[in-house]
Amino acid sequence: MTERFDDPDRTAWGSYWADVHDEWMGAEIDQDCLLALKELANGGPVLELGIGTGRVAIPLVLTGLTVHGFETSPAMIEKLREKPGGDQIRVIQENYVDMNVEGKYRLIPWIDWGPFLLHSQEEQVRCVQNAADHLEDGGFLVVEMPTRVPIPDNQGPNGSEHLLIESITSTSVGLWAVDYNPLDQTLFTQQILLENGSVRLQPVPMRYVSPAEIDLMARMAGLKLKHRWSNWQRAAMTSESSTHISVYEKPAQP
Ligand SMILES: C[S@@+](CC[C@H](N)C(=O)[O-])C[C@H]1O[C@@H](n2cnc3c(N)ncnc32)[C@H](O)[C@@H]1O
Repeated sequence: MTERFDDPDRTAWGSYWADVHDEWMGAEIDQDCLLALKELANGGPVLELGIGTGRVAIPLVLTGLTVHGFETSPAMIEKLREKPGGDQIRVIQENYVDMNVEGKYRLIPWIDWGPFLLHSQEEQVRCVQNAADHLEDGGFLVVEMPTRVPIPDNQGPNGSEHLLIESITSTSVGLWAVDYNPLDQTLFTQQILLENGSVRLQPVPMRYVSPAEIDLMARMAGLKLKHRWSNWQRAAMTSESSTHISVYEKPAQP
């Protein structure tokens, strides 16, 4: 096993992804995602965890909402600032786990793999608790992430290590190497793009969290599951769904 980094300052994601993020993930956010988040915010302030290039935050701010966000990566923040509307967003350049910000928010989106990008259960639990503490009564924490560990169900020839083919074109092959540790549900992943004459490696440490486990974290933080969708068109999640969007509400205090 070769040496792996654990990315203590959490800037690695952005340094490997900033130049391709919007091109690969789509610069425009799904309009149904925008509509759902706008409805949940109901005019109140929004705090996005991992605001990235502002794909979600900028369209939200342009609807007139107040949007703040945490982001550790200078490269991602630079992309956000280049976009029209990017200057209207308060970006806090810090790890969001401890949520070092004053005030309460109506909506906290933690989407596009959200909780997976933290590296331990302890961090995920702390983050959900801090999010709950930063919600107004009646406000919502929204998570969007895969329902499963992103490896095939059967064990590969090398135990927990798997190589998945993501794309094949006449000039490139996209691969994903995943090493999963079932003891603590951590994953070390390498996205690999082979193109004529070049190899691009994008390492990401993360931790798998199941829908039931994030429900428990939310319950421990005093939140209640309000909706569970399989997509932004708000279709119900089934056992076949590969993604879930879970909306947790902070109940009004008596
Ligand atoms: C998958 S991207 C999603 C960006 C944005 N939410 C979107 O949907 O386009 C996740 C972002 O979270 C940031 N990030 C990851 N872990 C973080 C942490 N602990 N604190 C602050 N930002 C973090 C990464 O740098 C990256 O820009």
